[in-house]
Amino acid sequence: MGARPFSGMLLSMVIQRQQSAHAATVVQPTKLPHESDALEQSLRPRSMQEYVGQSKIKEHLLVHVQAARLRGEPLGHTLLHGPPGLGKTTLANIIASEMNAQIRVTSGPAIEKPGDLASILTNLSEGDVLFIDEVHRLRPAIEEVLYGAMEDFLLDIMIGKGPTARSVRLTIKPFTLVAATTKAGAVSAPLRDRFLHTFKLAFYDDDDMKQIVDRSASILGAALHHDASRLIAGASRATPRIGNRLVRAVRDFAQVRGESHIDLACVESTLASLDIDFDGLDATDRKLLSIIVDTFGGGPVGLSTLAAMLAEEQETIEDVYEPFLLQRGYVHRTPKGRMAAKRAYEKLGRQMPGGVQEAML
Ligand SMILES: Nc1ncnc2c1ncn2[C@@H]1O[C@H](COP(=O)(O)OP(=O)(O)OP(=O)(O)O)[C@@H](O)[C@H]1O
Ligand SMILES: [Mg+2]
Repeated sequence: MGARPFSGMLLSMVIQRQQSAHAATVVQPTKLPHESDALEQSLRPRSMQEYVGQSKIKEHLLVHVQAARLRGEPLGHTLLHGPPGLGKTTLANIIASEMNAQIRVTSGPAIEKPGDLASILTNLSEGDVLFIDEVHRLRPAIEEVLYGAMEDFLLDIMIGKGPTARSVRLTIKPFTLVAATTKAGAVSAPLRDRFLHTFKLAFYDDDDMKQIVDRSASILGAALHHDASRLIAGASRATPRIGNRLVRAVRDFAQVRGESHIDLACVESTLASLDIDFDGLDATDRKLLSIIVDTFGGGPVGLSTLAAMLAEEQETIEDVYEPFLLQRGYVHRTPKGRMAAKRAYEKLGRQMPGGVQEAML
């Protein structure tokens, strides 16, 4: 049997696998279950030098890290916020390594009782970084305990119940809390105020995305042509996690086809089979735009209507699809709902009606 039919069969299997397992999820910036695998870990930058882009944040962090190290003090509690997949967890790990500190990792929903937090805090060593992911999901009772720990490295907890209950004060070793959230607005004001540093991660520009794509391809041993990596970068929704996913998908396709070099045609056909266009929009994005443009004459359309028509959760639309569509100027948010912008009409190949609507935006 020649190599061709075999690779053809394998290729269609890969395409089917990618389509069924990933087509709806490739452009989702949120983490998928398989993305804690060793390959994914190998793509994660380990130092500030490897961490591409976000130059202002890196510049400021390096100053604060250096100053803290010179004083022999912890860095100061740091809040990282921004859309999923932009590098908050990666940065938290880098902060710990720049501080030569151990990192302890937990998340808002994982801390169920004040006692859980107390046990984490009392087990910290001096200078440790405590990383709390999804910090906006901390329960109020836990937050209360955290305040004292953040401010004075003191922990006030209640022992026992009823008339025999008493409050005990424990001292904790000085530590740095690094917290991450995709919803800064959902972090309570008193908690937000207790962070010394707050950094908002931004979507990556095309050059940074290309650098990230090239770096990942080189770690994975994939030979990417210059124009192929530019195309992947452009289709990555300005999000490193999606860039990495596309590199892995394209590498699979190329491998099965027996191609040792990944060229433009290979990327084009991978994107086509995943139903992702060159701007990174997938079928759900295009349907969302079409609902606003075609069904509602450009909007405004309420979130609940969009969710019902797309058969998606409102939260998924807000967290997964909308941030990029807003950032790239396809849609606008108004108090009455979502409206389509000129770019949405262009994307769908429709004529924008009159000048009135654009003037409103
Ligand atoms: N600045 C960067 N340079 C290179 N690669 C990056 C960068 N930021 C993130 N990545 C890559 O993207 C992947 C996703 O990043 P990370 O898990 O840190 O995102 P996140 O902001 O914590 O997402 P979530 O909100 O879903 O937790 C990382 O595994 C890493 O490989
Ligand atoms: Mg994370």
